[in-house]
Amino acid sequence: MSHQTPTQPKKSVTCLQATVDQGGKLVMITAYDAPTAQIADAAGVDVILVGDSVGNVCLGFENTIPVTMAMMCHHLEAVARVRPRAFLMADLPFLAYHLSVEDALRNAGRLIQSGAQAVKLEGGGENRITVIRALIDAGIPVMGHLGLTPQSLHSIGGHKVQGKERAQATQLVEEAKKLETAGCFSVLLECIPTELAARVTEALTVFTIGIGAGKNCSGQVLVFHDILGIHPGTPPKFVRKYMDGFNQMVTSLTQWSSDVKMGIYPSDQESYSLTKVAKK
Ligand code: KIV
Repeated sequence: MSHQTPTQPKKSVTCLQATVDQGGKLVMITAYDAPTAQIADAAGVDVILVGDSVGNVCLGFENTIPVTMAMMCHHLEAVARVRPRAFLMADLPFLAYHLSVEDALRNAGRLIQSGAQAVKLEGGGENRITVIRALIDAGIPVMGHLGLTPQSLHSIGGHKVQGKERAQATQLVEEAKKLETAGCFSVLLECIPTELAARVTEALTVFTIGIGAGKNCSGQVLVFHDILGIHPGTPPKFVRKYMDGFNQMVTSLTQWSSDVKMGIYPSDQESYSLTKVAKK
């Protein structure tokens, strides 16, 4: 088990790329608040992403589309206060980079001023490339995101595996190369066949991070709450659950509730008294 000490240096794009160049794999996880960031950092992950999945994971939305810049900054700032040693990045939410280059710069700048070291945005078309070039020119590192791009949910027809057809696969490889040429330090690949993710990873010199994209990416990302089974219900096929968080938490709370009702919580040791020197 890895527990980080405060003496370990803060991760940077350079050290992430060096890990991959030396044959290592990268570990990225989402976090949305101070405790999840502290847990992720104590586990020694390389990258923490304040994802726009905060919308469906924490805020009760059905998908990421309603997530705003204000919501992103609120959650990012909570994560940043923990000062994680992991590389800290944040998603630009829907419509934060679609209206104009100026708007994209302002919004990405807000995320950087809120503590992110880089931003992630979805898609690889002409308009995205223009925006990415401007962000990089302003000194903002960018991770691309291809394959299943949840902000385009309605145009891609739902949460489905992408790039299964030859033409779609070729387009995805071309877009990944364009993202690299535009200056992205990495490309995230979501829900695409293993073979296609391998092709993209081979074609790029920058590293890839996969989610539902098989084992050939340079690293893997999963959503915090999925790994720990905090949500009831069946997670997507690519999730490996390391804990039944939901049921374990329900069991603990049920036990506490029963202790309160039976009058066995709090005990004298868990209470303050006028007659003894109170323990803090
Ligand atoms: O917001 C998110 O959780 C993501 C995943 C692909 C990691 O972008």
